[in-house]
Amino acid sequence: MPRVNRTFVLSLLIVSGSLFLLFQLYYYRKYVSKPGPQILSRTGHLTASDVQWQTVKTFLALAQHFRLPVFLVDTAALMLLSQDALRQRDWQGGGLHCRFLCTSRPVTSFALHANLWKYEPGFLLAAEEKGFELLELKGEDPRLASLDTLSGEEIPLHFLFRLHGYIIQVVFLYERSGNYLWHGALRLKSNMDRSFAPFKLLDYGHHAGAYDRPDLVLTVLDGLDVRVPRNISRFLSEQRHARFLECRYHDARNFLQLYPDDMSPAAVDFRRNAKSLLHLAAQTLAHLNIPFWLSSGTCLGWFRQCSVISYSHDVDVGIFIIDFRSDIIAAFRDAGLSLKHKFGKVEDSLELSFLSEDIKLDIFFFYEDGDIVWNGGTQAKSGRKFKYVFPRFSLCWTEFLELKVRIPCETLDYVMANYGTSWSVPVRAWDWKSSPSNVQENGVWPPSEWADLVQVY
Ligand SMILES: *[C@@H]1O[C@H](CO)[C@@H](O)[C@H](O)[C@H]1NC(C)=O
Repeated sequence: MPRVNRTFVLSLLIVSGSLFLLFQLYYYRKYVSKPGPQILSRTGHLTASDVQWQTVKTFLALAQHFRLPVFLVDTAALMLLSQDALRQRDWQGGGLHCRFLCTSRPVTSFALHANLWKYEPGFLLAAEEKGFELLELKGEDPRLASLDTLSGEEIPLHFLFRLHGYIIQVVFLYERSGNYLWHGALRLKSNMDRSFAPFKLLDYGHHAGAYDRPDLVLTVLDGLDVRVPRNISRFLSEQRHARFLECRYHDARNFLQLYPDDMSPAAVDFRRNAKSLLHLAAQTLAHLNIPFWLSSGTCLGWFRQCSVISYSHDVDVGIFIIDFRSDIIAAFRDAGLSLKHKFGKVEDSLELSFLSEDIKLDIFFFYEDGDIVWNGGTQAKSGRKFKYVFPRFSLCWTEFLELKVRIPCETLDYVMANYGTSWSVPVRAWDWKSSPSNVQENGVWPPSEWADLVQVY
C-alpha cells in the first residue's frame, strides 16, 4: 500500500536523520570544540604549529589583560579564514587543531587603534616576563605635518614581539583627518638588529598604508578569542591596494616661498569650492564603487604644493575605462551637478565634464595599451582628437584637502609626462591642445558621428 510505504519511509528518514545529527554533535564536541591543539604531539615533541599557536595565545592573553583590543590583520590567516567560509577545509591531517593561526609563516600580524594605546610599561614588562623580546619602531607623526609645520614628534608605528623564533607584529593605526586609518612604513634605524625578524616577510610596513575603519567581530579561532574584520574579503582587497604616499610638505613649502599662494578673495573662493567639488566627486564615485585618481592640474597641485592651483579653474580626475558605468552621468546629476560636455565614446577617448556653480569637474577616462596608458581630448568646434600618453602607473592613496584620495604612485613620472621637466615652474597660459608634453594629434571624429560624440550642453 503506497500510503503505508510513504509513512514508513518518512519515519525511517527522520530516525536516520536524527542519528546523523547526534553523531555530528558528538563529533563536534569530541574533535572540533576542543580548545586549541594538544601541546605535545604523539611523539612528545612540540611541532612548529604548536609553538606558533602557543606564541599567539600568550600574546593574546597579554593584550586582553591590558585591554588592548588588537585585531587580526594577518593576510595568510585571514585568507585561510575566508576560504573556510566558502568551503570547509579538509579537517584531516596536521591542520586539525590550528587551522587558521598556524600559517606556516613565522609571523602573525595584528593591528591596534593607536588611540587605545597608552604607553603602558606594565604591558611591555609583562611581555618580557613571558619571554617576549620587543623591537619598537617609531617614526614621525604625519598628523602634525602640514604646510605650516613639519612634524618632529615621534610616535610608535610597529611593535615586533619575538618568542621562540615567532614574530607577532602589531601595526599601529592612526586616525587621520580624512576620516581614515593610517599606518607608517617600518624603517630600521642603523643601530637596530636587522636579524630580529624576517622583515621581507612582513605584511605591513614596506610602505605606509591607508584603510577605511573596518567593522570588527569577535570570534573564536583555533580555540582563541580573536577580533577579525567582519568582511574579510573586503579587508584583504583593501590591504592589497593600501599603499599610502604623504604629500611632499617640505618641497611644497619651498615652492610656496618662491610662488606664494594667491590670497585674493576670488582665489580663496576657488580653492574652497574646488575642495567641496572634489569631496562631492569622491562621495559620488564611492557610491558607484568606481576608483579614481587626481589627474592633470589637480594632481600637479597636490604633488607640487599640496594644494589646489588657484588659476586652474577646474578639478581633474582620472578613471580607468574598465571601471566605466553607464549610470555615472545620472549619479552626478543626482548629486547636483550638470553635464557640461561629453566627448568620445566608451571605446575611444571618452571624457565627461560636469559643472558645479562655476567650477568644472573634468573626468578623463584612461585606456591601457601595452606599456602605456592614454586618455583622449576632443576640440568641440573642429572635432579634432588628441591623445595624452603616460607611462603605466599603479595607484596609491594620499590625503588631499582632508580627503583620502588616490594618486598615481609614480607621481613624478605622471606629472613629467604631462608637464615636462619644468613642471615645478607655474605656467598660467596653458593650452590643453599644445602645452602638454605628452599630447599627440589623433585625427578627427567623422562629421556624421559628431551628434553622438561631441556633445556640449
Ligand atoms: C564584502 O565586501 C565585498 C566587497 O566590498 C562585497 O561585495 C560583499 O557584498 C561584502 N560581503 C558582505 C557579507 O557584506
